[in-house]
Amino acid sequence: MKLQSAVATASLLALASAQSKLQCPGTFNPISAADFVKALNPGWNLGNTLDAVPEEGRWNNPPVAPSTFDDIKASGFKSIRLPVTWTTKIGPPPTYTVNSTWLERVSTVLDQITSRGFYAIVNVHHDSLEWFDFTAPGADVKAIEEKFYRLWYQIGEKLGCKSNLVAFEPINEPKGTTMEHADVMNRMNAVFLKAINDAGGFNAQRVVTLVGLGEDSIKTSQWFKPPTGYSNPWALQYHYYSPYDFIFTAWGKTIWGSDDDKKSLETDLKLIRQNFTDIPLVIGEWAASPVATESAARWKYMDHFIRMAAKYNTATMLWDNGADFLDRASHAWRDPVAERVIIKAAQGAVNSLPDSTEDAKATSQTSSAHVFHKVGEAVNTQTLPFKLNGNTVKGIQASPDSNLTSADYSVSGSNIVFTTAFLNRYINTTATPGIKANLTISFSQGASSQIQLVQWDIPTLGGASTSKAEKGKDIRIPITWKGIAKPAAVKAISSDGKYLADDWTQYLGPLQQGYATYNNHWNWDAGNLILTKGAVDTVANAKKSTTFTFEFWPRVPGNSVKYTLTA
Ligand SMILES: *[C@@H]1O[C@H](CO)[C@@H](O)[C@H](O)[C@H]1NC(C)=O
Ligand SMILES: *[C@@H]1O[C@H](CO)[C@@H](O)[C@H](O)[C@H]1NC(C)=O
Ligand SMILES: *[C@@H]1O[C@H](CO)[C@@H](O)[C@H](O)[C@H]1NC(C)=O
Ligand SMILES: *[C@@H]1O[C@H](CO)[C@@H](O)[C@H](O)[C@H]1NC(C)=O
Ligand SMILES: *[C@@H]1O[C@H](CO)[C@@H](O)[C@H](O)[C@H]1NC(C)=O
Repeated sequence: MKLQSAVATASLLALASAQSKLQCPGTFNPISAADFVKALNPGWNLGNTLDAVPEEGRWNNPPVAPSTFDDIKASGFKSIRLPVTWTTKIGPPPTYTVNSTWLERVSTVLDQITSRGFYAIVNVHHDSLEWFDFTAPGADVKAIEEKFYRLWYQIGEKLGCKSNLVAFEPINEPKGTTMEHADVMNRMNAVFLKAINDAGGFNAQRVVTLVGLGEDSIKTSQWFKPPTGYSNPWALQYHYYSPYDFIFTAWGKTIWGSDDDKKSLETDLKLIRQNFTDIPLVIGEWAASPVATESAARWKYMDHFIRMAAKYNTATMLWDNGADFLDRASHAWRDPVAERVIIKAAQGAVNSLPDSTEDAKATSQTSSAHVFHKVGEAVNTQTLPFKLNGNTVKGIQASPDSNLTSADYSVSGSNIVFTTAFLNRYINTTATPGIKANLTISFSQGASSQIQLVQWDIPTLGGASTSKAEKGKDIRIPITWKGIAKPAAVKAISSDGKYLADDWTQYLGPLQQGYATYNNHWNWDAGNLILTKGAVDTVANAKKSTTFTFEFWPRVPGNSVKYTLTA
């Protein structure tokens, strides 16, 4: 497609020629898209911050502090994706003037990033769900094109003199499902390029990461067509949150790591690579949040993901919404093992990882991320299988500062065996439930693991175990935790014996049949189980009383409580 004919509407040309191009002091060191993408790996997203709607500070994160970038630097990440939402900052047509205070803020944050030596990708983010949504009924695509051009022209002017560390991404996850939508998005990539090039500065040499519909690997593979007529070095960016059920704790999928699981992840990354053999690829968002996924499964997933991305010459940038990974206030990683697994795998080191159940047909789930001991049972030696991957165990430390000796543990093949004497220091038949120790295991190379010694019992409900489903309201169910203070999975069976939702889960394994989905149906806080309004409304609409079985960690038969919503 000839770019000029596609985007040169009379008004766009008028706007462009009416203004003189930005001139920058100094020089720009050109960098190829391949070198840029290689150098940014691995990267981190400043999520839910400058992309918050209506503005920075209004979601779960306060305005970003520069010290956050020091924390990310210290971890070993090489780049930062800076998602920015512009919607509420854009004035009316025809000029669509962007608030200059906001442009200045974005420029300032970008400087905080690049002054620390990071590569950066700045974008137009949640606008894709608002005015940019060209798939909405009655959308005026011509007007959206003009607004998009004007927005990027102004961003291009403001940021046009930034160094070669800064790349632009036209739009985050543009909506669309059809080839017609894809044609529009292909044109929008060209509109974006025209705008930044018209703005001037160093933009004609700047790296850009172009996008397909949804920044989804399949739709991008099917329909993305590169614009012609521009000199910008370009890469393709896509996002990866798959498999959906594991990543989003849907339908009881708490297990990951079978050969099938691994193969399908590899196939996804391979297919898009085979479609774009000579194009630099960057996965600009991916994650497996420690909030609700099981630790051993999560670490195995992350390790495999990073290795497969490397195998298919693809850079990765972790999505962190501020509640998932780095605790910006305390400067600590909520899951320090995840952070090390990612960095070490990206460096090519071999990680050793706690093993866990991988068989989708299993009826319970074991995990070597924990030493579990149940109240009432005698303390015995505990054997934890690991995937050592050729490494040896170097040592184990118990918090706060004591090193374990050969009287405390031994290594037998790929198992770590803890002695009764060692375990008895922390637990016994009657000890109060809770996390009794954190054990840090270091290996001959790769990330250390941190596993928890947990005394557990079945949690108890603080009140009634039934109530009436009242539409539109979450139900909070007081609970006394006894071990790990969160549910593992929730099953929902109606009074007629049928699943409350998602009947097709009958074809899944026993740990998934009839199970509900985290966030959509259930949640928790420090003192409560929560049935969300999504679950309550489903019960009320179905007019069928439903029993929810909340399962806890370890995910073994009997470690659960029931709560019934009557219709
Ligand atoms: C730009 O945004 C700032 C900060 O939100 C606000 O104080 C100012 O009034 C805005 N300017 C215009 C022209 O809307
Ligand atoms: C390109 O991607 C599509 C969609 O994922 C896939 O069906 C196709 O097999 C891929 N092509 C190649 C050559 O791998
Ligand atoms: C524990 O072992 C590490 C080396 O693995 C050593 O650096 C540290 O000083 C030891 N700590 C104590 C309290 O012995
Ligand atoms: C069990 O452990 C607790 C500390 O967790 C301790 O107070 C208690 O005395 C122990 N009981 C026995 C029988 O050793
Ligand atoms: C274990 O580590 C967590 C943080 O990851 C901490 O909150 C907890 O106090 C530690 N527990 C023990 C017994 O050291």
